[in-house]
Amino acid sequence: MHLLIKQVEQHVKSLFEGEGTGHDWWHIHRVRNNAIHIAKAEKADLDKVELGALLHDIADHKFHRNDLEAGPKATIQILKGFGASDSLQQEMAQLVREISFKGAKIETPVSSIEAACVQDGDRLDAIGAIGVARAFAYGGAHNRLLHHPDSKPELHSNFMAYAKSEGPTTAHFYEKLLLLKDRMQTDTGKRLAAQRHQYMKAFLNQFYEEWDGLK
Ligand code: ADP
Ligand code: NI
Repeated sequence: MHLLIKQVEQHVKSLFEGEGTGHDWWHIHRVRNNAIHIAKAEKADLDKVELGALLHDIADHKFHRNDLEAGPKATIQILKGFGASDSLQQEMAQLVREISFKGAKIETPVSSIEAACVQDGDRLDAIGAIGVARAFAYGGAHNRLLHHPDSKPELHSNFMAYAKSEGPTTAHFYEKLLLLKDRMQTDTGKRLAAQRHQYMKAFLNQFYEEWDGLK
């Protein structure tokens, strides 16, 4: 298992290095550390959590956002290439299938404690100071305004509508980031998310205070 983890790490690193839109290797690095931290407290299988964290965004490096099966398929292909067992391939594909946020009104249940740890680790990296930085980096890469006073955030009930949302970056806080603290799966994740949530709220308060310039 440890050789397999090393091989997958090198492979994922080579795919993600140089991505500048918030999905770079350092996102994977942080999610792995977050997820392992949570997994230790939750007594999950650390090797599976590490492998799942490394693979969780595997389909996103080229933005295959309209194919929800792209991640699970790529996971199987990579693990097969490194000689992993069929059962591990299937388990990791299922974990990868369960991780990502798909819209405000779409539930994302997990079927293993390992998936819970990776999902929480990923969501922690979307909130707090890093979350703010990633949101505005994404907005810049997609030519979005920072904010527009007339914009009305939408709570999406459909993944494609969520993925295509073109509002200003502040809308994304209401469409995803501020919802995450109530969707954490583990007690450890909930506790860590609460602090990062408060930080984002303070950021937004100050942002709105500064928005019109000085009067
Ligand atoms: P993750 O890797 O956390 O599953 P995504 O693939 O949904 O997240 O998005 C990558 C990063 O870009 C996240 O930090 C996310 O919050 C941010 N992001 C996604 N969509 C938008 C958007 N419309 N505006 C601003 N940031 C966004
Ligand atoms: Ni991610």
